[in-house]
Amino acid sequence: MKFLLSLSLFCILSVAVFGQTVKSPDGKLAFDFKLNAEGTPVYRLLFKDKPVINESRLGIELQNQPHLIKGFRVVNSQTSEKNETWQPVWGEVREIRNNYRELLLTLEQTIENSPNRTIVLRFRLFNDGLGFRYEFPAQNDFKSFIVTEEKTEFNLTGDHKTFWIPGDYDTNEYAYSTTKLSEIDASQISKKASEIGTRQNFADNAVQTPLMLKSAENLYINIHEAALVDYPAMYLMVNRQNFNLTTHLAPNAVGSKALLQTPANTPWRTIIVSDKAADILASKLVLNLNEPTKIENTSWIKPQKFVGVWWEMHVGRATWNYSDTGNLKLADTDWNALKPNGKHGANTANVKRYIDFAAKNKIDAVLVEGWNVGWEDWYGNWKEEVFDFLTPYPDFNVTELKNYAASKNVKLIMHHETSASATNYERRVDEAFRFMKANGYEAVKTGYVGRIIPRGEFHDGQWMVNHYNRVAERAANYKIMIDAHEPVRPTGLHRTFPNWMASEAARGNEFNAWSVGNPPEHETILPFTRLVGGPMDYTPGIFQIKLDAYQTGKKEQVHTTLAKQLALFVTMYSPLQMAADLPENYERHADAFQFIRDVAVDWDDTKILEAEPGDFLTIARKAKNKDEWFLGAITDENSRTANVALDFLAPNRNYVAIVYADGADAHWQTNPQSYKIERITVNSRSRLNLKLAAGGGAAVSLKPVTDEKANN
Ligand code: NOJ
Ligand code: CA
Repeated sequence: MKFLLSLSLFCILSVAVFGQTVKSPDGKLAFDFKLNAEGTPVYRLLFKDKPVINESRLGIELQNQPHLIKGFRVVNSQTSEKNETWQPVWGEVREIRNNYRELLLTLEQTIENSPNRTIVLRFRLFNDGLGFRYEFPAQNDFKSFIVTEEKTEFNLTGDHKTFWIPGDYDTNEYAYSTTKLSEIDASQISKKASEIGTRQNFADNAVQTPLMLKSAENLYINIHEAALVDYPAMYLMVNRQNFNLTTHLAPNAVGSKALLQTPANTPWRTIIVSDKAADILASKLVLNLNEPTKIENTSWIKPQKFVGVWWEMHVGRATWNYSDTGNLKLADTDWNALKPNGKHGANTANVKRYIDFAAKNKIDAVLVEGWNVGWEDWYGNWKEEVFDFLTPYPDFNVTELKNYAASKNVKLIMHHETSASATNYERRVDEAFRFMKANGYEAVKTGYVGRIIPRGEFHDGQWMVNHYNRVAERAANYKIMIDAHEPVRPTGLHRTFPNWMASEAARGNEFNAWSVGNPPEHETILPFTRLVGGPMDYTPGIFQIKLDAYQTGKKEQVHTTLAKQLALFVTMYSPLQMAADLPENYERHADAFQFIRDVAVDWDDTKILEAEPGDFLTIARKAKNKDEWFLGAITDENSRTANVALDFLAPNRNYVAIVYADGADAHWQTNPQSYKIERITVNSRSRLNLKLAAGGGAAVSLKPVTDEKANN
């Protein structure tokens, strides 16, 4: 009894000795650390003195050696503080503040029959959240090792409202479900999502990050990761009874998770917290936890707008493939001898039409998909030698288009669909990049549709994570910009690789063309989830909303109004922004298209004016180096009025506001193309009253009238 008492006293003492508390620079967040009785690291996070994350354990499981879970003691503890600003190459704001308090703990593990091992836990507490990671320093008895699972916990305090998609090793292209944590049923959702060709849900209670949560006390919580390098993506396993979340990593082809060699570290685990939804959108925590870029000269990295030979394939008017002959071998086919199907979109004349349109409308570039041979049987065959990224179809003249585009001062954007054959891409990518440079291409859209080769790997595993990062790095050597489709979801690596400008890695507008599509709330959720990791190539700007315009009886439609498609150019941040519809649809609505012509793609400042995940969003952004503002407001399936103050405008100055709004009779389903355009004069004391239709939105451009002072 006496012994027990002294033991528990010792535990309390050791907690008192090693227990650590750190406060955020503004004092609102507090973070506690201790080792529990078993010597397992435990942390806790509080916002305004109330727990956001209850006591949660940390640990890593290893193959053929003791796990890094218990038996630790703290051998060193250091605190430090950082407060600096840095300028992104491009972004939502000109300058980013990186202000945190850091706790660095060196832990030594002593367990029987095993050499002592040392790990480091690094915690950074910002005003808007917490980031932490595991580090494995170089040491004699700990060199190469295999991670079989990470056991990081995020123990939530209640049955929060959750915006989630199923945990899946191969895709992020699900529509969001909004339920309580206790109601998550991922496998059910995944089974039904037949519109997603390659999916690998692995558990009923598994969800993806960025995971967005809202507590009953109106606290907004976002859990994700930063700087995913040489490690698999992280999912969260939800305990639906006690609301504890535990990490689960994407596996590799041999059934483990990560192969590491000291010195090494995991990505940062991130928790963004606020009682204001807008703060989640404004947070730069994920970016701050990424390494600065090593690229010294970044002048070749250019935010831009583009159109493309693209939507016409998705709506079924044209094809990627040149002929309808299936079963071809890349090396043995005489492509000139194939019988053309007459619907090939990437033909020289059609591409010239897009170049003309871009030139006339100050659109920087034209993306062309289906230009290269191999599309006849590219999909669903798990075929390794699928594309060569060099040989154009007979009707696509590379040199003629290079010269034509140059004469019109328009850039062409290359397309490298890999069909998920990453091995094939790696073998050919240097030659492909050299071919691009020789032919005037400065940006490439990559794609990973299908099951991954190396076979047995997944889109989100360590091997593919390294692949995407390698391609971004390699591209930078050639001064090439990247827009990746179907990669792992972003984790702020665009700070390190600013040439990796956008990714899809979520359910884009394309799903509206050929599936049940995206519900009107979709674009009010994405900024709180997927975009927390980085820009998304959502492909906004569809004006012809009902798709029976392409084929009689085609029942698909985009779940939007036309005005909302304009607003997405502001609310869905990306430095590569596609105006996705066909030139003829834009020409029929030239007045509305004016907004797309005008809108900026790089910003000095961003103001989140109103936000509620799943419901609505109003954002204003100031164009880079110009006193011009663009505002986007969107709503879900409910109509609403956005009433916003324009106090972000420079004082004492009049601005012309062009308001692109839903028509009075607009409705995403019954009357999606009804819009009205109004021109008014406003100043920093004005308010705008924007009426958004069900599934609708509004876009506003604001430019100074002249330099004269506003009438006071
Ligand atoms: C899926 C991509 O998301 C889409 O943009 C592309 O057109 C097709 N794959 C074909 O590569
Ligand atoms: Ca896709």
